[in-house]
Amino acid sequence: LPDLQDGPEPTVHTQQAYAPEDDFTAKWTRADARQLKRLSDPTAGSKQNSMPAELTMPAVPQDFPDMSNEEVWVWDSWPLTDEDANQYSVNGQEIIFSLVADRNLVFDERHVFAKIGYFYRPAGIPADERPENGGWTYGGLVFDEGVTGKIFPDQSYSHQTQWSGSARISKGGEIKLFFTDVAFYRNEDGSNRKPYDPRIALSVGKVHANKNGVKLTGFDEVTDLLQADGTYYQTGAQNEFFNFRDPFTFEDPAHPGETFMVFEGNSAMPRESATCNEEDLGYREGDPFAETIEQVNASGATYQIGNVGLAKAKNKELTEWEFLPPILSANCVTDQTERPQIYMKDGKYYLFTISHRGTFANGIDGPEGVYGFVGDGIRSDYQPMNAGSGLALGNPTNLNFAGGQPFAPDFNQPIGHFQAYSHYVMPGGLVQSFIDTVGTEGDFRRGGTLAPTVKIDIDGASSAVDYSYGDGGLGGYADIPANINVNPGGNE
Ligand code: FRU
Ligand code: FRU
Ligand code: FRU
Repeated sequence: LPDLQDGPEPTVHTQQAYAPEDDFTAKWTRADARQLKRLSDPTAGSKQNSMPAELTMPAVPQDFPDMSNEEVWVWDSWPLTDEDANQYSVNGQEIIFSLVADRNLVFDERHVFAKIGYFYRPAGIPADERPENGGWTYGGLVFDEGVTGKIFPDQSYSHQTQWSGSARISKGGEIKLFFTDVAFYRNEDGSNRKPYDPRIALSVGKVHANKNGVKLTGFDEVTDLLQADGTYYQTGAQNEFFNFRDPFTFEDPAHPGETFMVFEGNSAMPRESATCNEEDLGYREGDPFAETIEQVNASGATYQIGNVGLAKAKNKELTEWEFLPPILSANCVTDQTERPQIYMKDGKYYLFTISHRGTFANGIDGPEGVYGFVGDGIRSDYQPMNAGSGLALGNPTNLNFAGGQPFAPDFNQPIGHFQAYSHYVMPGGLVQSFIDTVGTEGDFRRGGTLAPTVKIDIDGASSAVDYSYGDGGLGGYADIPANINVNPGGNE
């Protein structure tokens, strides 16, 4: 990594593990997150990346192929996994789930129309021997119309959508699909008639795969698992813009027989009276670059109070869950710690979560990308990776210039500023994501399809993009390979 620019020292984090039930929440502090700016080159000019190459995804070309042959918009995607995040093919077919929406919508309207769809492709083919778009076949929607709306006590919703989650496979081809079931109660002008209602939910189905393709059955009932509680996880009553979503389940070798879930939440403070404290700021004694609590609390940064939640299953069927305190908070750092996942390597526990540039709090700046934290357990004093900043893989970004929006990217940014989002770290350090926008003002193309897979080499608290992977660091588009093949020969 380059020499650091002037700025505060990061908070000291021990990586020490606590029991999953303990009341200890690691802080991604402002002192930590301000390392992002310290890693950025203040002399980088218009359209240049100001961030270190080791932490930057190579630029995605603007002539990217479309994985659904323009049938649907595609964004957040997840593979079929087991309790250790291994990725499965079944009877010779790889299977992924994706949020999809109608191509007639403007891409940015997708969130209130999202549905879970699935794709499949033959397993065991090297990426460079597949069609350029990844060679997936779109299988259609997982749920029949009406199924996911039933759990809401107030049926007067204006929009009912399915948001991200994860899929667990077990013997006999049973799939437990964990997802976010969402009802919106909006007025014609888009304002809230009442706060939206996101719930972490489960639906069970079955996969039927053979050499001709993949069919799903079941998924005709939804179990409501968790609603934000207002104690650990902010509710709609506390903040109509609260975030509560994106379940990812796993087992922890240190606690055999238990199943845990991480998810995106917000710290449970009322929006208008939220405050951050000294621990959220995390400055070392006497740091000349420190801010005061009063400064930060008066700056508007208190609107950004993301956290990563933890829950524990109370039964083997995974239909009953209890909340545990959050494992990470990002108070006055970022509002969205989306799609969190736990990744294990060399005895260490990595927590990865995605953040937009635009959801960082006032005074904090960093690229759209995936951020990583390392510790000795699922609950630990997580140390943000890479010089304490947290950045694991960001888009080519120039922090000396504003970013704009995916629908109006700033002229001065590299063409990749909004190229990828919703990164998911897979076995072997492969990272998949979707393409949002490639280009800048006057010349950009929206994505709605999966990006090239890239590889990061993870080593303790550091990681680096592997530029020897694929073509200068870019692997196959939409390449989500299985690392475990069940009955690769074919029949059920
Ligand atoms: C911005 C955004 C996304 C989030 C979505 C739903 O469009 O905040 O980051 O997924 O809206 O709230
Ligand atoms: C990430 C995300 C998720 C959410 C989904 C909604 O891109 O914001 O957090 O589940 O998209 O579309
Ligand atoms: C906008 C905002 C967003 C965030 C939300 C949090 O006012 O600060 O950045 O998503 O409110 O409550």
